Amino acid sequence: MSIDDFTNKVICGDCLEFMRGLEDSCVDLFVTSPPYNLKNSSGNGMKDGRGGKWSNAALLDGYDGYDDDMPYEDYCAWQRNCLTEMMRLLKPDGAVFYNHKWRVQNGLLQDRHEIIEGFPVRQVIIWKRKGGINFNAGYFLPTYEVIYLIAKPEFKLADKANRLGDVWEIKQDMNNPHPAPYPEELTDRIISSTNAKLVVDPFGGSGTTAISAIRYGRKYLLIDRSQEYCEMARARIEGGEWNVRKDSRQYNLW
Ligand SMILES: C[S@@+](CC[C@H](N)C(=O)[O-])C[C@H]1O[C@@H](n2cnc3c(N)ncnc32)[C@H](O)[C@@H]1O
Repeated sequence: MSIDDFTNKVICGDCLEFMRGLEDSCVDLFVTSPPYNLKNSSGNGMKDGRGGKWSNAALLDGYDGYDDDMPYEDYCAWQRNCLTEMMRLLKPDGAVFYNHKWRVQNGLLQDRHEIIEGFPVRQVIIWKRKGGINFNAGYFLPTYEVIYLIAKPEFKLADKANRLGDVWEIKQDMNNPHPAPYPEELTDRIISSTNAKLVVDPFGGSGTTAISAIRYGRKYLLIDRSQEYCEMARARIEGGEWNVRKDSRQYNLW
């Protein structure tokens, strides 16, 4: 399949299957945040909603049509397969901004090394989020995620973008009905820091990556397996009503 047939589109389907059908070296930039496998958690809060920081999190319900609860090894293998496809699709001067979160499970640090090992990670950016409430006196309120910049050898930032530093303090979006959206400021910053012409988000969700791509005059391609999120993204891109909350939950991951 030629990617030209899919630019500026929101594709509803499995991203790995879709990416496997595309030709080599056709994408300038991936900006993406996969599901974090949060329900596969040793902490009681996320499993069943008992107390703690998760008691009011939208992700207690999982994603639409996807419960985010894979055996850890399967999850890592899946994510490695996704990154392998992204690398195949990248042009020699392309890059992936891959957002994830570290956590401790049963006393072991999951720093996502199992996923990114062997890929050409050039830098780790800290995304310092704000807000949240932690009712658990056993640990400090978590406030950051990581963004792995995984780059092909010829990738270069846009002029002067290197001045931004590697710790980005950006508030999460509280007005988006998707359970785990990017804030536009984050995707704005990533996309405007590159010279990419075509930006792809294989876990497109509510379409934030596309909104920023359009804002900076780039082409986009979004993929998401959820029909509901694809419709949300399309309405948002077309400027229609899209961010109506379906219930009273706080869409806050902390
Ligand atoms: C962290 S969210 C992405 C949110 C997005 N960055 C935004 O701003 O709204 C992860 C998304 O991955 C989607 N997803 C899960 N499995 C998928 C798959 N196999 N293929 C494509 N999308 C998938 C979920 O439906 C969810 O919308």
